[in-house]
Amino acid sequence: MDPAYAATAQRILAADSSLVPDFWQTKYKSEASRNWDKFYNRNTTNFFKDRHWTDQEFEELRPGHTFAENSPVLLEIGCGVGNFVWPILERNPDMFVYACDFSARAVRFVQTNELYNSARCRAFVCDITKDRLAATIPPHSVDIVSAIFVLSALPPEKQADAVSNILEILKPGGRILFRDYGIYDLAQLRFKSGHKLEENLYVRQDGTLSYYFSVERLRGLFVRHGGLLELENDYVVKKLVNVKKSIDSDRVFVQAKFQAPIDTFEIEHAMTGTSL
Ligand SMILES: C[S@@+](CC[C@H](N)C(=O)[O-])C[C@H]1O[C@@H](n2cnc3c(N)ncnc32)[C@H](O)[C@@H]1O
Repeated sequence: MDPAYAATAQRILAADSSLVPDFWQTKYKSEASRNWDKFYNRNTTNFFKDRHWTDQEFEELRPGHTFAENSPVLLEIGCGVGNFVWPILERNPDMFVYACDFSARAVRFVQTNELYNSARCRAFVCDITKDRLAATIPPHSVDIVSAIFVLSALPPEKQADAVSNILEILKPGGRILFRDYGIYDLAQLRFKSGHKLEENLYVRQDGTLSYYFSVERLRGLFVRHGGLLELENDYVVKKLVNVKKSIDSDRVFVQAKFQAPIDTFEIEHAMTGTSL
């Protein structure tokens, strides 16, 4: 990331020192699934667009990729109404896709979509911070877990529980594909005072949470806590130039790939945080 941009962003963020009171913090966190359910009640399937870009960013999502031995199995956590799932199913006729979300309304939208075919897809309600994925999916049977703009919806103290949950269903050698909001993203800089719960965690107008990741935070979660190998972990910065106001502001995302170790040699590397 450009150091000058990062320094300006740090100055802007440091100016916001007021925190949401504890009562409201607890309420937003305990009512998270309710607030997302209301989000889908208001927006139905119209808010997010289908994510057609994912196989350009992640080769594992391209048909015929040799990564999985047989028909690959994918789990999309926090699937919403299926915007990630539909293009993947269409392009990969061999793939079986599990999709879960803690909004029952979102899951119903997936299950009732005309593209939903129970021979190739299973959508289910699950709060990834507390409901065991292994209760629905056979342990260590999934080749790819996609985490696309979902971990940012979790408060930081629950993110490690979600990672542990995923590890129970990931195959040895299986991969986690991650894309989410990065620190100093334009949306983080735009929060008005009164929305900050703690460093890098904010509440939106509709009560949903938004956490902004650093690559170090991700490494802590997946490598140090999860014991996974880091294959990729970088900021993706998209420059936006506002000619009218002559302000440059960036969309900042973090894109990463982690792999479950296959043998003891790789496990030792993972434990010392070495990337392949
Ligand atoms: C920004 S949407 C992303 C949807 C989808 N991954 C996509 O790329 O279009 C985040 C989703 O995560 C879900 N979510 C948030 N916290 C969750 C949790 N603890 N367990 C399961 N799903 C969760 C929300 O209900 C929401 O549908």
